[in-house]
Amino acid sequence: MKRKTLVTKYSIVTIVSIIISVYLPSTAVLWTNSRWIVDEKGQRVKLACVNWESHLELVVAEGLNKQPIDVISNKIKDMGFNCVRLTWPLELATNHSLASLTVTQSYENAGLCTSIPDLQANNPSILHLSLLSAFKAVVASLGKNKIRVILDNHVSKPGWCCSKSDGNGFFGDQYFNPQDWINGLTKMATLFLDNPYVVGMSLRNELRGPRQNTKDWYRYMQRGVEAVHEANPNILVILSGLTFDTDLSFLKTQPLKLSFTGKLVYEVHQYWFSTGSLWEDVNANQACGIMKNKLIKKAGFLLDQGFPLFVSEWGTDMKGTSLSENKYLNCFLTWVAEYDLDWSLWTLVGSYAFTNGVVGMDERYGLLNSNWTGVRNNTFLQRISVIQSPRQGPSAILAENRKIIYHPLTGKCILRKSIMGVNLGNCSESNHWSYTPQKTLIIEYSYFCLKAQGMNRPARLSIICPGTGTIWAPISDSELHLAVTLSDNTTACLDVDSGNNLITTTCKCLSKDNGCDPGSQWFTLVDAYKYY
Ligand SMILES: *[C@@H]1O[C@H](CO)[C@@H](O)[C@H](O)[C@H]1NC(C)=O
Ligand SMILES: *[C@@H]1O[C@H](CO)[C@@H](O)[C@H](O)[C@H]1NC(C)=O
Ligand SMILES: *[C@@H]1O[C@H](CO)[C@@H](O)[C@H](O)[C@H]1NC(C)=O
Repeated sequence: MKRKTLVTKYSIVTIVSIIISVYLPSTAVLWTNSRWIVDEKGQRVKLACVNWESHLELVVAEGLNKQPIDVISNKIKDMGFNCVRLTWPLELATNHSLASLTVTQSYENAGLCTSIPDLQANNPSILHLSLLSAFKAVVASLGKNKIRVILDNHVSKPGWCCSKSDGNGFFGDQYFNPQDWINGLTKMATLFLDNPYVVGMSLRNELRGPRQNTKDWYRYMQRGVEAVHEANPNILVILSGLTFDTDLSFLKTQPLKLSFTGKLVYEVHQYWFSTGSLWEDVNANQACGIMKNKLIKKAGFLLDQGFPLFVSEWGTDMKGTSLSENKYLNCFLTWVAEYDLDWSLWTLVGSYAFTNGVVGMDERYGLLNSNWTGVRNNTFLQRISVIQSPRQGPSAILAENRKIIYHPLTGKCILRKSIMGVNLGNCSESNHWSYTPQKTLIIEYSYFCLKAQGMNRPARLSIICPGTGTIWAPISDSELHLAVTLSDNTTACLDVDSGNNLITTTCKCLSKDNGCDPGSQWFTLVDAYKYY
């Protein structure tokens, strides 16, 4: 009898939860579970976001003079992103005379009368909306396309960010009154209380400048977080570190005390220039080792403390012609892939309508081209696709030693292509490999392992594992070269030739030569958990 009641209860719960899961948008409230961001069912939600700027002088989301909002939202989805970090200036929430200007008025005030017809052609419905309503229209369009939104308070005064002396850098700066900030955050959090697609708020971008100090960081962040949580308990609160959001190390010994749990996320930024001239000064492998160690020391340790880490800004010039940026990007991608982090690319924007007195400025870091008609560089998109999908998470079971072998330069992974052949292919179709104690790389559920046949010859599979040419070890300061001893006792590294074939060649750029780019020889073994 008792048992029956239990069963009935269980069935009702099951039915209710099925109904909930069918009718709730897939983007209902997010939580944190240790270092993971999860949905209400406890399943991992990996944030693969792109930044979209709406904090510049016009206080209108960029691109609305180039394409209809829905076209842009759709394109974001098409490019494989599930989320947007949408920037906004504090004054949009605190300065009524600014927020109530119409979009047309804002364009006119900036002397952009000639651009209004473009705006009219692409987004006639927003022309006469207030700046705040236009911002809401962008959020609504993203939601309609099932794209999650993180509201990022980027600056106080609308305009280009960020310098140490722009008056927007730290609590107490000319335009950064802590109480105004708390009021603005509260207003924004309240405004989107009922929008299930607004999943988080970045409380303030890139704290910096001569006033920065940890005492005020704890004091005001705690107040800001509590105010946001009280106004809107549904959203994740995301906190930036000091020194342009490159340093959260102070949290190692002194955690932030809050009245609630399950909502706190930290964010960190990493560009090639975030480490000064590191990428010019030392060998690429050394630079990569240093960058990754620094990231762990300054922010990555938070994962072990049980917080998600959102790499909310990173990116490069899409042309890919700078050696330093190329080396940085390969190294960075392996870091994000290895830890399966949440992230947001800088930036969606192909060009800016108006900033710093310039009309139509091209954005070389922009995913879209300057006309917003298409993707600037499809190769780049291919390279980052591997970090757009989750491979780890709290509900995943680590099938011991289940990995993909990722090559960041191409964004591809090692696949079996014939009985004994291997090549590079889409990581989502990758075979899974285990890295054995004997240092062989064996394809899951098989006897086949990766084998080097000789210098400058294609890699292939072997069934003699371990055997000659099948023992692989990560070497160099980056640990990204996969080295193997050949039958003549020479050492070779796994490499990819210009035709995208997997071969073994002389290990290159291992030390010294700062101008050398080892990219083609960089691979990393990424844990790929199994979901049941
Ligand atoms: C509010 O916005 C208006 C319009 O942009 C601007 O002229 C004014 O200086 C702003 N007020 C404050 C207090 O920043
Ligand atoms: C795209 O980026 C790749 C490097 O990722 C570079 O080799 C290529 O030239 C770039 N293409 C364009 C059109 O800029
Ligand atoms: C952008 O549009 C302008 C004017 O229509 C055109 O001249 C230019 O070729 C376009 N550029 C791209 C990258 O599509």
